[in-house]
Amino acid sequence: MQLSDQHPFVAHATKDSHLIRAFLGHRPATTPVWFMRQAGRSLPEYRALREGSSMLDACLDPALVSEITLQPVRRHGVDAAIFFSDIVVPLMLAGIDVRIVAGRGPVFSQPVRAGADIARVTAIDPQTVTERGGPIIEAVRRTTEMLAAESVTRGTPLPLIGFAGAPFTLAAYLVEGGPSKDHLAARRLIHEDPAGWDALTQWLADISGRFLALQIEAGASAAQLFDSWAGSLSPCLYRQAALPASARALAHVRQIEPPADSGMLRVPLSHFGVGTGDLLADIASLDLDVVGIDHRIDLDEALERVGREVTVQGNLDPAMLFAPAEVRAAEVSRIIAAGKVARAHVFNLGHGVPPETDPDVLTDLVTMVHDAR
Ligand code: CP3
Repeated sequence: MQLSDQHPFVAHATKDSHLIRAFLGHRPATTPVWFMRQAGRSLPEYRALREGSSMLDACLDPALVSEITLQPVRRHGVDAAIFFSDIVVPLMLAGIDVRIVAGRGPVFSQPVRAGADIARVTAIDPQTVTERGGPIIEAVRRTTEMLAAESVTRGTPLPLIGFAGAPFTLAAYLVEGGPSKDHLAARRLIHEDPAGWDALTQWLADISGRFLALQIEAGASAAQLFDSWAGSLSPCLYRQAALPASARALAHVRQIEPPADSGMLRVPLSHFGVGTGDLLADIASLDLDVVGIDHRIDLDEALERVGREVTVQGNLDPAMLFAPAEVRAAEVSRIIAAGKVARAHVFNLGHGVPPETDPDVLTDLVTMVHDAR
């Protein structure tokens, strides 16, 4: 399908925003910056709004979602908003019983362990995500309207980034029944029942793919696939058990064409995983515009591995948010200098903002990145 000129790409000029230009390979005047988990517990205004509602109930409340998504944009002056939601939201929309336990993460009442569990789950039509996606569509619409208003105040267009979990990471939660350290149950299923694993991850690809497509169609200007736990796989196992389903999830967005008059060739797609240093060449073989780099690898080394055809995003160690300001400034300069070698660089952390972060440090960090030359 083709997006209309009413899409924020054209209607709110997000195609000309620093973030979208950098995602598509141009070098804007200043390095764009946003933070994974920028909306969340580090902000007192977030904690106040979230009082009394569960995480997943909050994700289905369009007024709450749009307000929470805007909070870090207003406070920190970042170059983009990331949609407030969670990687398990499409699974919840598909009717799978899941809760998010504070301080722990997603927990499933019925883990997917054997063939019968896989059959039960994959019998659900992925179309359900689209059919029940009304609150998500409404939340994206409200958010992009609010971003358009904020863009006027700021004097620069502000895009919304949509996201979804990659099939491997979702499967790691679903098979374990909750968070785990080394994802042993998931890795065990890959070897024990390769056909069942493929069926499960292909299904998850369609669930995540539809969730991504829904956000783009409703007004998001880019999408990021989070394969947070892919780093627990060897490159060989990643190519066999994770990459094909990630490619299938991304293909759902590649079917969406930018508005005719936008001059854009594609909707930008980004990818992020933790501890993926050894997987970067394989990840870069996916049809991506941006590859996220975590803090366990030097940016210049990461660039060697991903090549020059993609934009890189990252990779300040979140622990640096607690370092003396001058130490952090030196590290920011080093990362920006390394990023100059890439076709374009978007500044981010190597993983999410820790809840105990002082928000003023993040605001200062945005200024530091924008002032760097
Ligand atoms: O600002 C943003 O980045 C947007 C929102 C966002 C959330 N989750 C909100 C959230 C995004 C992009 C995610 C993705 C997500 N969720 C990932 C991939 C990114 C990553 O961090 O690797 C993963 C692995 C999850 C699963 C998940 N959901 C975890 C591990 C947790 C944390 C549990 C905890 O309490 O420590 C969640 C819950 C969650 N998702 C919170 C938020 C703001 C905290 C819930 C709360 O505030 O009560």
